[in-house]
Amino acid sequence: MSQPLHAEIFDPKNSPDYVNILENIRHNEETFYFDGEHYQAWVVTKHDDIIELLRDERLIQPSLLPRIASFTPEQQEQLAPLIEFAQVNLGKTRERKHALRQATKQFFMPGSVNRLRERVREIIEVLFAEKDINQPVDIVGTFSFPMPAWVLAEILGVPREDQHLFIKWSEALINFYRSYTFEEFLASQPGVVEMLDYCSAHIEKRLRDGTGDNDLIDDFARLLDAGEFEMGELAASCATFLMAGHENTSHFIGNAFNMMFQNPEQFEIIKNDFSQIPKFLDEVLRYNGVVPFVTREVLEDFEYKGCEFKTGQLISLSLFSANRDEDNFSNVNQFDMYNDTAKYHLGFGHGEEYCRGSHLALMEARELLEFLLSRYPNMERVEGGMETLCQPMLRRYITRFDVMLNPA
Ligand code: HEM
Repeated sequence: MSQPLHAEIFDPKNSPDYVNILENIRHNEETFYFDGEHYQAWVVTKHDDIIELLRDERLIQPSLLPRIASFTPEQQEQLAPLIEFAQVNLGKTRERKHALRQATKQFFMPGSVNRLRERVREIIEVLFAEKDINQPVDIVGTFSFPMPAWVLAEILGVPREDQHLFIKWSEALINFYRSYTFEEFLASQPGVVEMLDYCSAHIEKRLRDGTGDNDLIDDFARLLDAGEFEMGELAASCATFLMAGHENTSHFIGNAFNMMFQNPEQFEIIKNDFSQIPKFLDEVLRYNGVVPFVTREVLEDFEYKGCEFKTGQLISLSLFSANRDEDNFSNVNQFDMYNDTAKYHLGFGHGEEYCRGSHLALMEARELLEFLLSRYPNMERVEGGMETLCQPMLRRYITRFDVMLNPA
């Protein structure tokens, strides 16, 4: 039974069929060992198991070691900069990571995010300014791709003109996290190193010059000066914010527009009552989320529901499957913004590593929806105007989404 499932979740051409594939696993095996050529991990599909495991202190965010263990010493030497980055960023103790989260959390709390609302509206206006409203407008290329990176640049306090650089580097960092082969790791390395150098240089400059701007880089400079964290930790954290804040939000907004056009009655509801948008967005994250799996590494051997987890093994927890678990959600395969169970979705993860940018992402999506729906309530999607990109582990992203605004 397990062999075909291995092939199914790893082959990008199966990503569009993720609902059936995960349902099949959930109903049959629930948890199994994925023994692929380049990737081996336990795969967990039940919502309650995922919650329990994400709270389990015997699991930690993965270090690089299990993934490069099979590489030759020469290959490992060539990857020295990545290994160093991983040791600083991923190899730290739980306490250290917790301290760093605490030190930066005020930037992403609801109050701070609300203060950014007005600025996000201005950014949307600027991105929209040169569009021909009588031609198709690509929601991804015009808004959802550039907007989150721009907003992040402002929160961090790095020049917006560098946005194209950190979008490029974010892709390298994402590729690094998703690398399975030596060649993939090697290809991602230069971008990751440049990104870390860039972040370090900005923190150092701020330490020297100061600005009093009270942005995230200011905070990092203060933490460095106080000796609370090393430069490597702060630069890695800075790079993580740039990456995490950009890609996921962009894909989330694409999914939200897709769901809106696929469900015309619900489109009508949010168009006429913006206060319903948060419910709608919760259901988007449940029904059509962005992050298919989060992965942990086993710190000590233990048995979980008949599975023998061994030290150093990886465990991939399927958030997509959890969000359609019939034991936790009603009408799992129907998109319904009034599904009262939707708010229990795991689209932003769970536990200590719960997404730090959740309020920001929801605010950006809501502002964009309100901006377009208030001006162009008659907009329609363009037939054939959607492109997607499929990747291993059931990833499927909307990379183009054309709409006609149909001005009155
Ligand atoms: C809709 C958009 C987003 C989705 C679906 C999303 C999803 C997630 C998920 C599932 C995790 C958990 C990872 C794990 O458990 O290993 C996570 C963590 C994280 N997210 Fe997001 N995210 C989004 C937007 C953002 C934004 C805008 C930021 C910007 C600040 C951000 C920053 C982070 C950070 C820093 C972490 C790591 C948390 C930690 O380890 O302490 N995310 N995100």
